[in-house]
Amino acid sequence: MTKQNVLVVLGSPKKNGNSAILANKLVEGVKEAGADVESVYLQGLKIAPCSACDACVKNPKAGCVIKDDMIPLYKKIEKATAIVFVSPTYWFNISAQLKLFIDRSYALRPGENKYAFSDKKVGIIMTFADTDPFTSGAANALHSFQDICNFVGAKIIGIVYGSAEHPGEIEKNETVMKAASDLGKKIVEEGN
Ligand SMILES: Cc1cc2nc3c(=O)[nH]c(=O)nc-3n(C[C@H](O)[C@H](O)[C@H](O)COP(=O)(O)O)c2cc1C
Repeated sequence: MTKQNVLVVLGSPKKNGNSAILANKLVEGVKEAGADVESVYLQGLKIAPCSACDACVKNPKAGCVIKDDMIPLYKKIEKATAIVFVSPTYWFNISAQLKLFIDRSYALRPGENKYAFSDKKVGIIMTFADTDPFTSGAANALHSFQDICNFVGAKIIGIVYGSAEHPGEIEKNETVMKAASDLGKKIVEEGN
């Protein structure tokens, strides 16, 4: 059995918001399953947009030329056997914080035709204020995650999403809280 290392990447500006609450439940599940886990809050980090300079494509070993707070995150991505993307729905998609992180992951090229998330296990957590995952726009974001994972060759182990408007409201939804902790266990155990 490989020692599993789960990287949880949180895209909400609220460190105690609904998506973070679900992420914390997932972390409990990961720990119960005996794996290492680290949570990274993107809010407050200085991560510039990808400038499409393609320096990383021309020289994959050199990595990204933008020297900001994304640099230490590349090492964390490399070390992880699983990545969990956590985001509120913002304007029918993921938050800008998480989008920047995903865009900048482009510079990590672990091998030929390999991208940062290639061969990783992936979990997804999303919250939204609308009562419906489709009219909320969360479904758009989930579809994008499916496309990303298909393209890079990453395996989605599970998706947890729930409706909650105000911070903390998600705690009332016992089903989704349990689903988050179950996904924590599953992401460790699947394929291991
Ligand atoms: C800028 C902004 C845009 C939002 N856009 C949507 C949206 O398109 N659809 C939706 O259902 N909720 C939307 N919401 C509500 C949040 O997705 C919802 O409150 C979510 O539970 C917040 O998660 P958090 O507490 O982890 O930040 C938006 C909230 C903000 C602040």
